[in-house]
Amino acid sequence: MNTIKALIFDLDGVLVSTEHNHFLAWKRIADTLNIPFNENENELLKGLSREKSLETLLSLDNRQVSASEFEELLRVKNEAYLNSVAHLSPQDCLPGVTELIDAAKKANLKLAVGSASRNAKLILQRIELDSIMDTIVDGHAVKKTKPDPEVFLRAAKNLQLSPAECLVFEDAESGVQAALDGGFMVIGVGNPSLKNRVSRYIPSLHNFNINEYEILG
Ligand code: BG6
Ligand code: MG
Repeated sequence: MNTIKALIFDLDGVLVSTEHNHFLAWKRIADTLNIPFNENENELLKGLSREKSLETLLSLDNRQVSASEFEELLRVKNEAYLNSVAHLSPQDCLPGVTELIDAAKKANLKLAVGSASRNAKLILQRIELDSIMDTIVDGHAVKKTKPDPEVFLRAAKNLQLSPAECLVFEDAESGVQAALDGGFMVIGVGNPSLKNRVSRYIPSLHNFNINEYEILG
């Protein structure tokens, strides 16, 4: 049995359904630029920073844009994304989130979010999970974004724990890589293509039972 002291969650696509909002906002940008883009290509963007996502999108069609155009595309994307999450509420939490967080709190586990998003705190406020987290490490707090492990290492450091004492939940290739490179155990969530890279795969947090893990006091 594994022993753990904390759960570190990716945000988009793990705690809340906003990964689809990001996709739709990028799809609008791709359509404006006439770059073919669907959910499969979107997998390459998941977990990356806003800037890295746009670089990846442009590279799908070998495109280059000026620095000012790049900034404008980022602004338009974020505006579309923020409009689409204006009415986000706790009901948009993904299945099993509330139950797992309640069980983890009862078991005295520490809770953290490690996300590339610079909107992470806003989203957590809207789904009312901001105050329950012991630390939130977002896109503002790190220099290097996923697949670099910095975001998860910083979360563990803020909790004063070692990576081996934390369990990371991720839905993106880049996030799984970040967690593995940081020395964390990773649970892959909702993305079957992660199956052979993670300690365990679950379709949603609804399928995760904290009692299978030994909790260190
Ligand atoms: C990640 C998402 O959590 O945050 C990506 O998986 C998103 O899709 C990234 O691009 C950056 O988010 P934001 O809100 O800073 O544009
Ligand atoms: Mg994610």
